[in-house]
Amino acid sequence: MDASNFSDDIQETSNSEIEAFFCSAPPLKDAAEIKMKLKDFVGRQSLHSESGKATRVVCVTSGGTTVPLEQRCVRYIDNFSSGHRGAASTEYFLKAGYAVIFLYRRGTCQPFCSSLPDDPLLNCFDCPDMRNVQVQPSYAEDVVNAVGRHQAAITGGTLLKLPFTTIFEYLQILKETAVSMKDLGSNAMFYLAAAVSDFYVPWETMTEHKIQSRSGPLDLRLAQVPKMLSVFRKDWAPRAFCISFKLETDTRILLEKADMALRRYNMHMVVANELSTRKEEVVIVTASGSKIVRRDMTKAGGEVEEPLIEVIVSEHSIYIETSTP
Ligand code: PMT
Repeated sequence: MDASNFSDDIQETSNSEIEAFFCSAPPLKDAAEIKMKLKDFVGRQSLHSESGKATRVVCVTSGGTTVPLEQRCVRYIDNFSSGHRGAASTEYFLKAGYAVIFLYRRGTCQPFCSSLPDDPLLNCFDCPDMRNVQVQPSYAEDVVNAVGRHQAAITGGTLLKLPFTTIFEYLQILKETAVSMKDLGSNAMFYLAAAVSDFYVPWETMTEHKIQSRSGPLDLRLAQVPKMLSVFRKDWAPRAFCISFKLETDTRILLEKADMALRRYNMHMVVANELSTRKEEVVIVTASGSKIVRRDMTKAGGEVEEPLIEVIVSEHSIYIETSTP
């Protein structure tokens, strides 16, 4: 397969297509609250930098977006992503001294929770009587650790969590986040690990009520979600350090597509990963070449996100040093 076959996937989008998407999207229910939270959070980081400590802020997107099929949504199309990459990366960014805006799909993996069972409430706690809640001794250390680190990040003002479910919510919040981070210049970073829908049902053509099965087989025509990455780089976050991800299941096309995304969307880095090996290794693709990053197998609980974030932080430092203020 040659590169021309990929052109349907990596494409330019006109500003009018993007405008049309936002105009037809149902407005965010909590837009004012989100704006306020972003303003406070980013403002707090700017204050820190005035005291001589330049705070770097990264927006980590995580989890998959849904595409509703009905306005009063009963059914939807989903995009695969457990949110593990985003949640683990958030922890390493916090460790490296970044403030993190964690834009995540509701119900997906959360930072600091990887050592807790999937159903933490039911498995971690005991209720010997109505007034007593106890942590099961086998989980005590993990719970104390998770709660303590989470609380420290939230109350210390280094972690802001913003949830989304649909593609409409995701893109509106991402835009709002980018605009709110504009003044941070090169200290801002975007780490776009979310799995974003490529096709959707435009809101105005969507049926209001639950689609009835008695009408027979369902014919669906999905419109293409405009690729936001070009406008993102050009208009929303022109000075930020931008990393996008490329997920494929066919390794033969992975690097070529990552390289194409790097050039087409003018990204600083594209992290390429194959679905079945994504927890073991990723390939960082930049204008100066590519580099394989692997999980440290000799380390118990070693995660690929640890060396990945190390490389990214050091590339971001070079970017900041070489950027004009
Ligand atoms: O969550 P995990 O289970 O740990 O898995 C992590 C992951 C595999 C989901 C993650 O590492 C990953 O690869 N995320 C990106 C997956 C993806 O959607 O790739 P894509 O080829 O569809 O999109 C490429 C880039 O374009 C993404 O950065 C996306 O944010 C962006 N995009 C996509 C569609 C669209 N309409 N607009 C966009 O801007």
